[in-house]
Amino acid sequence: MHAFSFHNPCQIEFGAGQIAKLASLIPAQARVLLLYGGGSIKRNGAYAQISAALSQHHWREFSGIEPNPEYETLMQAVEFARSEQLDYIVAVGGGSVIDGAKFVAAAVPHQGDCWLIIGNRVPLKSALPLAAVLTLPATGSESNFASVISRRETQDKLSFKNPLVFPKLAILDPTLTYSLPARQVGNGVVDAFVHTIEQYLTYPNEARVQDRLAEGILQTLIEIGPITLAEPENYAARANLMWAANQALYGMVGLGQPQDWASHAMGHELTMLFGLDHARTLAIVLPALWRYRFASKAAKLTQYGRRVWGLEGNDQDVAYAAIEATEAFFRQMGLATSLSLYDIDPQAAADGVATQLIRHNRLKLGENLDLTPEDCRAILITAA
Ligand code: NZQ
Ligand code: ZN
Repeated sequence: MHAFSFHNPCQIEFGAGQIAKLASLIPAQARVLLLYGGGSIKRNGAYAQISAALSQHHWREFSGIEPNPEYETLMQAVEFARSEQLDYIVAVGGGSVIDGAKFVAAAVPHQGDCWLIIGNRVPLKSALPLAAVLTLPATGSESNFASVISRRETQDKLSFKNPLVFPKLAILDPTLTYSLPARQVGNGVVDAFVHTIEQYLTYPNEARVQDRLAEGILQTLIEIGPITLAEPENYAARANLMWAANQALYGMVGLGQPQDWASHAMGHELTMLFGLDHARTLAIVLPALWRYRFASKAAKLTQYGRRVWGLEGNDQDVAYAAIEATEAFFRQMGLATSLSLYDIDPQAAADGVATQLIRHNRLKLGENLDLTPEDCRAILITAA
């Protein structure tokens, strides 16, 4: 187990009706900016609950934050917050709105070019406080300090990380997810699954608690994924999905572990180039990456196959069968595991992603920093 340090300052309020706590948990003198997306919060009751909770606060709203939040839109929110002198952000939505809110929180007090915040190219001195009300369990953004922002004009989808943008407060009410379309539920299960995998499935590292935490999250997702797809208003299933997705990227799973975020690196480029949903890119890339890197990941694939899927047999057979079981699970969640099923030419995807990775200086990926853009090109060609 490698050395690590850990701190997560986010207060989590979990359960039905917890939005009401915003009334007392947001300082009375705060000037609140409510950020949200395309309007799902008006249809599922979240907006009405928030309006009631903030009835004693000064608040204004900015909507229209897109999936894969767009820099130009977010800069309009920054201008709005500055002109209205708003000083506390409440983000209501999925990863896109919450990520967008983190950027706005950092950009409002920032002097200079806000684009440089993305990619951590400029130090931050401060950020506005942020509360997140989660409506789509998937990214873990509600209680971590990462944010992924897109700029379509320059074909960039890039992240920044800074402890200043940790949400101070996260409201996790599983009933807010009842209105999710099946596609977003499947996406959420797979995104959380892959987050766990990327901090776990590298090479043995004597981090037993972290391994078993990861295996517990993966088993939970396998158990409740089909139930929550079939029964949108099954509270227990939605509650377990919400907590599993939160814990997948809360920070504990990867402590002291080697990590391999190559699927996400390739996935972000696929989203930018072809418009695929974030989780859909991961369902395509991860199995192809595993087959390409079979030898270096074999020990952990075998452990995963035995402990998570209960597979039996010799090590190599278990490792291969674990890849197949994972693909079958992704398909069960409604996600395709090959590019051609989305009518994307594998050669075009492979060339496009390799070019983008070079342009974004992502030249050494994987747990051993030895996965090059050329390797990524080879992986995507096999993801046909
Ligand atoms: O915009 P609205 O109307 O709210 O609709 C959204 C959106 O169309 C809808 N939705 C959300 N909650 C709903 C709902 N519809 C009905 N009922 C509800 N309760 O779902 C659609 C997708 O939302 P989005 O926020 O884009 O999805 P997700 O949570 O999967 O977030 C994806 C973004 O997060 C980034 C991704 O790259 C992508 O940009 N990620 C952020 C991470 C982080 N900050 O740690 C890590 C992840 O790996 C990921 O990269
Ligand atoms: Zn993800």
